[in-house]
Amino acid sequence: MHCQVGIVGAGPAGLLLSHLLALRGVESIVVETRSREYCEARQRAGVLESGSVQVLREAGLAERLDREGLEHGGIYLQFAGQRRHIDFRELTGRTVTVYAQTEVVKDLIAARLAAGGAIEFGISGTEVHAITSARPVLRYTGADGVRREVTCDAIAGCDGFHGICRDAIPAGLRTVWETGYPYAWLGILAGVPPSTDELIYAHHPAGFALHSLRSLQVSRLYLQVPPEEDIAAWPDDRIWAELQRRLALPGWELAEGPVLEKGITPMRSFVSSPMRHGRLFLAGDAAHIVPATGAKGLNLALADVTVLAAALTSLVRDGRGELADAYSDSCLDRVWRATHFSWWMTTMLHATPGAGSMEAQLQLSQLRYVTSSQAAATSLAENYVGYRPAVPSG
Ligand code: FAD
Ligand code: PHB
Repeated sequence: MHCQVGIVGAGPAGLLLSHLLALRGVESIVVETRSREYCEARQRAGVLESGSVQVLREAGLAERLDREGLEHGGIYLQFAGQRRHIDFRELTGRTVTVYAQTEVVKDLIAARLAAGGAIEFGISGTEVHAITSARPVLRYTGADGVRREVTCDAIAGCDGFHGICRDAIPAGLRTVWETGYPYAWLGILAGVPPSTDELIYAHHPAGFALHSLRSLQVSRLYLQVPPEEDIAAWPDDRIWAELQRRLALPGWELAEGPVLEKGITPMRSFVSSPMRHGRLFLAGDAAHIVPATGAKGLNLALADVTVLAAALTSLVRDGRGELADAYSDSCLDRVWRATHFSWWMTTMLHATPGAGSMEAQLQLSQLRYVTSSQAAATSLAENYVGYRPAVPSG
């Protein structure tokens, strides 16, 4: 079997890429190890940059997003007993939209299937071969147990951090930068209306906390916990007590409700370069990971494939390689900006175990600065809403 583009992974990157290619008349096949139900339920990110919303709108994917997404004009930073607003609208003229990754994925899967797109869920044994030839090969075992081979004009590795595509690029040709953090996030989904109109990022001596939301009925909250923490050590009442402590502000109340889901996510910064080798192109978490404090992971994945769709169209439809040659550098520029911003937000807001009071004083000084200097607040705001808006491909 032959298909112009083989796409490994049905996360936001793989699904959007498949849709953008179809809009340009390029056929693709998406192969995914998990089931459709699993992909649509996996709790992850919640904030879309204005550029991401624009890309989804221009691709005809924003009907539900425009109806159900919640536009936010800023965030709150809380520290030392005060809650200060950073006004994105005033500082940048732009906003972000709260619309869960699960909903983006549901919309993308529905749009692909409605258009007759090929997505194979529940596959196993993914392999990519001959990536430096003009006919790279994708092999996998379908949900029916039958081994398949697809020859392609290009393969997109959209298979996340734990996928196989990145390792198909010889180690000697790749540079990897990686740093861990001495903490993780415990996240809950709670069946209670949010107690805030915009996200609250809270610095607290006991550790960071974040009040986010999924809708006007469902809240999403996070707590900084030790990196190897066992979720069994966190019964619901302990989670709420710690959220109450870290988010507390006189005259404000945090409403509690049933915990619908909970889990622990590690924190990592990771960049692998280049994002292309021969006719294999990496996009999203397959190439880079940021800690979630800057709300960038999903947005980077969408931005990568917006650039990649134009590059692959030019390569496989028009036989031109210039955009494919420029793909890695143009993405890595944005990736490094987001990597720095996410690291900066993370280190400003989390309590490093054993770091002592010097670090805390420096963090508090930085927090006072970004909430009082217009120049500093504008820098945070333009990074949060997306410093380089995703460029719609032509
Ligand atoms: P993914 O969404 O990881 O999709 C990759 C897909 O490839 C998966 O469906 C996977 O099953 C599939 N796959 C893997 N291996 C193979 C294979 N061998 N063959 C076929 N398919 C394969 N970002 C934020 O901004 N805010 C957050 O709060 C946040 N929370 C997160 C929580 C968790 C637990 C994780 C893991 C990530 C979180 N992120 C968050 C990051 C954000 O969700 C990711 O950046 C985003 O999902 C990247 O999209 P992607 O399509 O590149 O990768
Ligand atoms: C979320 O809603 O899941 C979320 C929001 C902002 C972040 C991280 C996660 O920085």
